Amino acid sequence: MTHFLDINKTDAADLRAIIDQAAAMKQARAGRPRGAPDDEQPLAGRMVALIFEKPSTRTRVSFDAGARQMGAQTMVLSGADMQLGHGETIADTARVLSRYVDLIMMRTFEEDTILEMAEHASVPVINGLTNRTHPCQIMADILTYEEHRGPIRGRRVVWCGDGNNVCASFIHAAGQFGFDLTFTGPAQLDPEQVFVDEARAKGADIRIERDAARAVEGADLVVTDTWVSMHDSQSSRERRHNLLRPYQVNDDLMSHAAPDALFMHCLPAHRDEEVTSSVMDGPQSVIFDEAENRLHAQKAIMRYCLVV
Ligand code: CP
Ligand code: NVA
Repeated sequence: MTHFLDINKTDAADLRAIIDQAAAMKQARAGRPRGAPDDEQPLAGRMVALIFEKPSTRTRVSFDAGARQMGAQTMVLSGADMQLGHGETIADTARVLSRYVDLIMMRTFEEDTILEMAEHASVPVINGLTNRTHPCQIMADILTYEEHRGPIRGRRVVWCGDGNNVCASFIHAAGQFGFDLTFTGPAQLDPEQVFVDEARAKGADIRIERDAARAVEGADLVVTDTWVSMHDSQSSRERRHNLLRPYQVNDDLMSHAAPDALFMHCLPAHRDEEVTSSVMDGPQSVIFDEAENRLHAQKAIMRYCLVV
């Protein structure tokens, strides 16, 4: 059984193969209408369930469109409308769904939910975001960086702001793809130490730097994300904004990065909070390529899970 649960749980060689496959599949359908099938139909006859316990635009539409391009049929399910949201266990849900579908992608709150789903499903499970990680996003980000600037190995990524789920998967990727990462943000919102230790053990240079301008000095890629994630309470909003304001990505901060540095954001963004519109819409921003590459990266991930 080949699940895709986290970047640190898939072999580095397989991750590299997924990125290369994504680039090849993207190239193979360049210029075609969005709804046109791929020449190869590796998911023909397959049924894919996409379960959401949290809102989503990109993950929902890109998984659905991508699975269909590869020949699968899809169903998008809201967790709240399933018995899952009314007391049926994850384990029983996993066993039942495995009788109907060939692949389960799930966006949920607790990491344990996705782990339990994977443990009890007899079909592959893909993590479409938990409170703790967002691996599919970072696969799209690696694809995007490499399309624009070549191999990410040895490059320096700077994460600005909240040490959240997307940051965690970036740190996983530093260890697996061999790049260095500096986290700059308030100590109260540091990424979990276990992510940092693991990436360091794999040879990545992971630094924590409280001064944003110093952190970004010479960076190849500057990344940020929302200051209040879906799992954060609204009552923490003001405190988070006050802590994070010095870490806004703006033109002044970007001027400290390498001249050819890129800017990324997984979206949705809160314009002029964590990042200014001038950076989002400026020449260094590749945010909409990132969004597009969710489609291509996830197609390669589904293929990896389903095609032996
Ligand atoms: N980046 C991302 O996962 O977007 P959605 O929440 O819209 O799926
Ligand atoms: N950190 C954000 C990412 C959204 C794609 C959240 O979890 O809400």
